Formats: sequence, C-alpha cells, structure tokens
Amino acid sequence: MIKHSATQPIGIFDSGIGGLTVTRAIVNQLPSENIIYFGDTTHLPYGDKSTSAIQAYSVKIADMLLQQQCKLIVIACYSATSAAYELVKEYVADKAIVMDVIDPMIHYIQTHHAHHRIGLIGTRQTVNSNVYKKKIDKLNCDIQLNSLATNLLAAAIEEFGNKKVIDSLLEEYLSHSTLKDLDVLILACTHYPIIKENIERYFKNKTKVIDPSDIVAQAIKSRLAKDHLLNPDGVGSKHFYVSDYTESFSAGTKTFFAEDINLEHYPLWD
Ligand code: DGL
Repeated sequence: MIKHSATQPIGIFDSGIGGLTVTRAIVNQLPSENIIYFGDTTHLPYGDKSTSAIQAYSVKIADMLLQQQCKLIVIACYSATSAAYELVKEYVADKAIVMDVIDPMIHYIQTHHAHHRIGLIGTRQTVNSNVYKKKIDKLNCDIQLNSLATNLLAAAIEEFGNKKVIDSLLEEYLSHSTLKDLDVLILACTHYPIIKENIERYFKNKTKVIDPSDIVAQAIKSRLAKDHLLNPDGVGSKHFYVSDYTESFSAGTKTFFAEDINLEHYPLWD
C-alpha cells in the first residue's frame, strides 16, 4: 500500500444524494476527517442500471477520488457495491483503501445473527446480484436470507420523505410472503434509513430493523485506526459534489444529511 497521511481526505461516492445517510454516520463517528462526497446524479438511479454500466461509472468516480488524493474510498451505494466493489478494489489497488457498505454488515450478521431468519430489501441491482446470499452462505452459520427488490421505494422517499404515502407503499412491499416471520430486516439501500421508523411500525417492533450506516462507519473508523490514518485534529473540511446539479437535489440533501449542505457541480462526464 502506498504510504498515506492522516490528513488526506476520505472519498465517498453514491449514485446520488442517498449516500449522505452513510456519510452522516461517518461524519458523526469521525468528525475530524476531511470528506469529499461525489453523487453521480447524472446516472441516478443505479438500481435499474446494468452491472456493466455501474462498473464503468464506479471506476471513473474512483479515479476522480484518487486524483483528489483520498486515502480511503467508500462505496456508499448498495447497488454500486453489488455491481462494482471487486472491480473498484482491483482498479484502485494499493493507491487507497477501498471499503463498501455490505462487508461490514456481513461481519455483523455473523457475530450477532447466526441461526436467524433474515430479510433484506434493496434495489433490483442489489437483490438480483445475490451478493448478500453468496457472502452469507460462505459463513456457514445456518442463516436463512430472504430478499425482496423494492424498486419504487428510493424514488418515493426522495419525493415524500417519511410521510404517510410511504406507508401504503410499504404495506404493498412488506406484506410479501418472502418477508414473513423475520427476526431481522436489513435496509440495503441508502434511502431506507429515512423510513426506518415506518418499517419498524409496520412490523410492530417484532422484527429488528437494521440500518447498516453506523456499522459501516464503525468499520471505517477501525480500519483507519489500524492503519494509523485517523486524522487527529479539529473539524474536518467537507465538499459535496454532484455530476448534475438541480435545485431539487440541493433541497433533498436536508432529508438525507439532516442539515443544509452546499452541493457543488463537478462535471465528471462533460
Ligand atoms: N444509492 C442506491 C442504493 O443504495 C439507491 C438509489 C439508486 O438506485 O441509485 O442502492
């Protein structure tokens, strides 16, 4: 691994502004880190794109984050992780650490939920990739995983936040037989933490609903600590870039980050 310094930024990317839920958890746990966020709003949503398209976008974004001297790159998008994590790791090689939003959760499940019946909701790309099942099967700890693609949810959350209209969509999706009698439900999409309470209400608090964001942030913190790369000083700088800028993306950031942030246009595809 190329020698990095602790002051170098963490690069975080997503298909759009949803990855701000993961970023928020990272900032909460690592307030001193310098952050560069990139949302590929030009190509949103990734959930319905082909694997090869998402791979091409992700490699180009990783390259841009390397040019920004990032010591660590976080793929904060479940669809991009499902499609491109291995390829991005290969591309980045020893130039930066690469982390994703799925492996920390797999590790958590192994420790806390062996022998459980686990449900998962995410985009079509995440669910159809079967990546969670492949990784969980390798653990060999008697876990039954039932996944459901809940395609309309992300766009609906961007439009309505956690309002009542979301509850009828949830009723439609969560009543599916594959999600019956779960011990745990994993929210495998950047947008779903916004409606975690709606989902808990639907299950009458009988199913444990897990937002992986904090688990991911904790894994990043441990990795930086292990490599002596934690930035020790002050409040870190933050830049939030999008490949296509609109007022509605800008307004939406508050939903996902819980505070106003300044979105800057970064013309990666021009
Ligand atoms: N960020 C995506 C994910 O976590 C959701 C939005 C999209 O489909 O691009 O899978």
